[in-house]
Amino acid sequence: KRKVAFLMSGGDSCGMNASIRAIVRVAIAKGCDAYAVYEGYQGLVTGNELIKKMEWNDVAGILSTGGTAIGTARCKEFRERSGRLKACYNLVSLGIDSLIVNGGDGSLTGADIFRSEWNGLLQELVDSGKITADLAKRHQHLSIVGMVGSIDNDMVGTEMTIGANTSLHRIVEAIDSISSTASSHQRAFIIEVMGRHCGWLALMASLATGADWLFIPEAPPAETWEEDMCDVLKKHRQLGKRKVIIVVSEGALDRNNQPIKCEKIKDVLSKKLNYDTRVTTLGHVQRGGFPTAFDRILATLQGSKAVEEVLSSSENKPSPLIAYNENKITCVPLMEAVQMTLAVAKAVEAKDFKRAFELRDPDFRA
Ligand code: F6P
Repeated sequence: KRKVAFLMSGGDSCGMNASIRAIVRVAIAKGCDAYAVYEGYQGLVTGNELIKKMEWNDVAGILSTGGTAIGTARCKEFRERSGRLKACYNLVSLGIDSLIVNGGDGSLTGADIFRSEWNGLLQELVDSGKITADLAKRHQHLSIVGMVGSIDNDMVGTEMTIGANTSLHRIVEAIDSISSTASSHQRAFIIEVMGRHCGWLALMASLATGADWLFIPEAPPAETWEEDMCDVLKKHRQLGKRKVIIVVSEGALDRNNQPIKCEKIKDVLSKKLNYDTRVTTLGHVQRGGFPTAFDRILATLQGSKAVEEVLSSSENKPSPLIAYNENKITCVPLMEAVQMTLAVAKAVEAKDFKRAFELRDPDFRA
């Protein structure tokens, strides 16, 4: 019987539970054993009760819930070779040779490093007498498949990441709530949203709520932004708009690479326009709650595809990343997608936006 393990890593995102359910049930339906690794990579390193065989009913009732039923973590130990050696030992001892990792770019890089080191790790375990040469031989190939669970929607090679749609809904709900009180009091609200180095959540939320002004990392404002913004807001007020909504992506920078602080924007509005202004940082509200239908479906289809891929993996095939492009579940090469994602972040940091957009070209396919 093939044994398929899976873990969630990095920040949680809505839909991760749907992916857990799909992986377990599709693996069982295909005659495999499914193993949940609890607490992300920490579970792989620690082993024992943190790697648990799952039955069909263990994942009942989680499709519609937020967060992750098997925990997630950012694990320091797995970043060290010694941690990965323990992880290798724990997997081999249980007879597991297939691993599905659902996380962001950092977590997926870790997975690929693990795969590339696999044979060396096995040899080290044989040399130190921890496993037999025969056991190592039976586990020569580690199949790795990546899935992207992240609210930031920042991965190259896929148009949507699991959880981004739900977070967008959460943000839009919050801005709608703020809008009503903002209108009543004719107030300005500056709303900080998550996204790390990616402005997708802020941009889409602004479109969906008709925000007055927006700050995102991919488009630093002109040097004259204070005047420009005030002119636009004054016009909106003259046209009868009672509220002001400004959306700030947490990673937004100005042209000198300085973070755009909500308090600074508040100061500008208070001093230049005399607006009664409030700042709202949405924080982790954006990562919680019930997943949208879109994220449940995306994660279910991708979880199912991940099992198919992990079972058909071979030594000379690069690890795949389960993606979503043009309304279809697709695969792209995991490491290329991760490297391009890091390259986009670097290009944005260097203010080379042309390069960043080229790298994010949707024609990038496996
Ligand atoms: O990557 C997901 C994310 O929610 C980012 O948008 C945010 O910057 C970060 O994680 C917050 O991390 P933590 O939950 O560790 O505070």
